[in-house]
Amino acid sequence: MASATTLFLQNGIRSGWIDSGHCGRFGGNLRLFHRSIEESQKKQNWTIACRQDLNADTFISTFPSPLRDGTAPLVNALKTTAEQDVARFHFPGHNRGQAAPSSLTQLIGIQPFLHDLPELPELDDLFSPKGAILDAQKRASNLFGSSETWFLVGGTTCGIHAAIMSTCSPGDTLILPRNSHISAMSGMVLSGVIPNYILPEYNSQWDIAGGITPSQIKEAIEDLKSEGRSVSAVLVTSPTYEGICSDLSNIVKLCHSYGIPVIVDEAHGAHFRFHHQMPCTALEQGADIVVQSTHKVLCSLTQSSMLHMSGDIVDREKICRCLQMLQSTSPSYLLLASLDAARAQLGEDPDTIFNKSMELAGEGRNQIKTIPGITVLNMLNFSNFPAMDPLRLTVGVWQLGISGYEADEVLCDEHGVICEVAGRQSLTFAITLGTHKQHIQRLLLGLEHLSSMSLLKNGLDERRVEDGVYAPFDDITMSLSPREAFFARKRKVSTGKCLGEICGELICSYPPGIPVLIPGEIITERALSYLLDVRKIGAVISGAADPELSTIVVCK
Ligand SMILES: Cc1ncc(COP(=O)(O)O)c(C=O)c1O
Repeated sequence: MASATTLFLQNGIRSGWIDSGHCGRFGGNLRLFHRSIEESQKKQNWTIACRQDLNADTFISTFPSPLRDGTAPLVNALKTTAEQDVARFHFPGHNRGQAAPSSLTQLIGIQPFLHDLPELPELDDLFSPKGAILDAQKRASNLFGSSETWFLVGGTTCGIHAAIMSTCSPGDTLILPRNSHISAMSGMVLSGVIPNYILPEYNSQWDIAGGITPSQIKEAIEDLKSEGRSVSAVLVTSPTYEGICSDLSNIVKLCHSYGIPVIVDEAHGAHFRFHHQMPCTALEQGADIVVQSTHKVLCSLTQSSMLHMSGDIVDREKICRCLQMLQSTSPSYLLLASLDAARAQLGEDPDTIFNKSMELAGEGRNQIKTIPGITVLNMLNFSNFPAMDPLRLTVGVWQLGISGYEADEVLCDEHGVICEVAGRQSLTFAITLGTHKQHIQRLLLGLEHLSSMSLLKNGLDERRVEDGVYAPFDDITMSLSPREAFFARKRKVSTGKCLGEICGELICSYPPGIPVLIPGEIITERALSYLLDVRKIGAVISGAADPELSTIVVCK
């Protein structure tokens, strides 16, 4: 057993990667700007120094450090089973690769087929685990600090569905950010819950949405209370795609004071537990259900995720039932074993495994900042939020007079540099355990070339995003719940005739990825002209059957 370590949390920040902190006990709002390791060290000292004065649990949280454990029971079970000398008469039909399609074996070899086995007794049962899967999930639970962990083969999408369905029944109310991932929207269709949206903060210069704040949630709970409605759950996305973290510790405290469970979509933050300068994890901050895409920054196979539970507000049996209902009865053991392997990889060296990635990200960030016309997203751009993922590099290119899409094209075509996501004003790069110095150097070369080329062509012709046009709005009238709208009969109408109709599709502009219309909402003039405006300027319209928006699907 690894020894328990006490870490000091200030609004969910372990140390370091913070630019502003709210020092509640002292009644002030201490703005602390930390750019260098040296400064972050000072910050750590400040946090520790504070501790002597504190007795309030508002500031201090105790949780065990990740357990060192490199054993992978499910990987071992798969190996042993694959090595058996037996005549197999069960599925899958390729029979351990004997009849594997050659086009694929030429690409990936025979080994994946050899280990692509079904739920045999010695390989345990995902929905009633007693052997290797149970062992692997328990080890994951120890490492990530949950009371129970479930392996998912349907990505975080499936975990978000299960989280919503296990906490909300038809007609209940769920508070969630308007820019929640599409999986939250489909989770609402499945559960029949009624959404109450919170608009995330929006930075128009970056054209990026941030997180949501405890005060926004309090206001929503109180407003609903005054209407005689209670809230079944609050869902928060933290971190966002760009790495912005919400103040989960205060959100959880607030929600728990009302007896409301908190679900955190931590799809992009599964790595937070593994470096002292990362933001605190949702579990460390008391969240009840946390869903992580282990396949994003961590190293499991695509589509594999984990759902973690903590505390006793949510019903574990209900989570089990939902997961059984939502997942395949033939879960892929390659995916499951990859979760076990990714956990064991972290468990071998949980405290230092991310040191190199953190160094690379820090060096890269510092060098990118010196490139003329290029800006790096930092906490000053979202000062209402307590922390940001140090492994997400979001780079603004508007001073070069080009869009993120144009920058992406140059980087990709001329330098072979592929970003995680491109926006109108910026590009986001994800640094992972698989990122090497050469990758960062290639990125720097690409950005330097982009800078000199664009400045030569455009001078200092800044690309501006005007506030009014891009700020998301909040005059939403919901006529049908997402579930009612999903099942309602639909028809297509020409855009000129759709005002006042009930929208039948989820229409979103990327960026900033905040849905403008969600099925069941009345189509307003403001929503429509916003969509038409942003489409004209080149935003990608997603979710609409007709992306050109000459017609819109409405409920009959
Ligand atoms: C914020 C967020 N939540 C949930 C998901 C869904 O995750 P998955 O792809 O693992 O199903 C994504 C996917 O990109 C995401 O960005």
